[in-house]
Amino acid sequence: MAPFIVFEGLDGSGKSTQARALYRRLKRRGYPVLSTREPGGTPLGEVLRRWLKGRRPLSAVSELSLFVAARAQLVREVVTPALEAGTTVIADRYAASTVAYQGYGREMDLALVYELNNAATGGLIPDLTVLLDLAPEKALGRKSGELSDAFEAAPSDFHTRVRKGYLAQAAQDPDRWLVLDAAQPKRALSDQVWTKVQPLL
Ligand code: TYD
Repeated sequence: MAPFIVFEGLDGSGKSTQARALYRRLKRRGYPVLSTREPGGTPLGEVLRRWLKGRRPLSAVSELSLFVAARAQLVREVVTPALEAGTTVIADRYAASTVAYQGYGREMDLALVYELNNAATGGLIPDLTVLLDLAPEKALGRKSGELSDAFEAAPSDFHTRVRKGYLAQAAQDPDRWLVLDAAQPKRALSDQVWTKVQPLL
């Protein structure tokens, strides 16, 4: 199986930029590589993304279920087949987002969140999760203009809990998590990611 690498962080933490940088680095060096984003990446996932990023309020249970449904399809249709074919997969968000946002942010039952995640992923755990850690005030400040979705419109104590949820997960599994101070320059961050990824290839 090829390595499965996930980028996590608050909106505006720079995780998508770092996911792209790693994707390009691997491509340049000739590695087969695929990138995914959540929610999305499959026909059902894209439909659910529109709902989840839309303005219509969803109940916490609906929201949790839709993220999990999108993930279940993505793992089955895209991630697992790619890894089995020897393609490195770089994911912009994965199960840890649901623990952080729905579990810690929305304060849903953590055991339920873990159980649903486990059902959706079939137990597929990333080889490495890179957390772009940043104080919510700084992360949200990086997003310019109008608030673009319901999550970004949520108040900051929500984002403080989300950050805590990420750090708690990283602390539980330090060998498979890399926590980076996202306030560093982009190049310094991508070099630290590369140092950690190389031995996995
Ligand atoms: P994303 O498209 O990554 O937003 P951004 O590019 O703005 O970071 O994710 C959309 C939102 O969905 C984001 O605010 C985080 C949230 N989210 C959850 O709440 N739970 C989840 O399981 C996932 C994957 C995302």
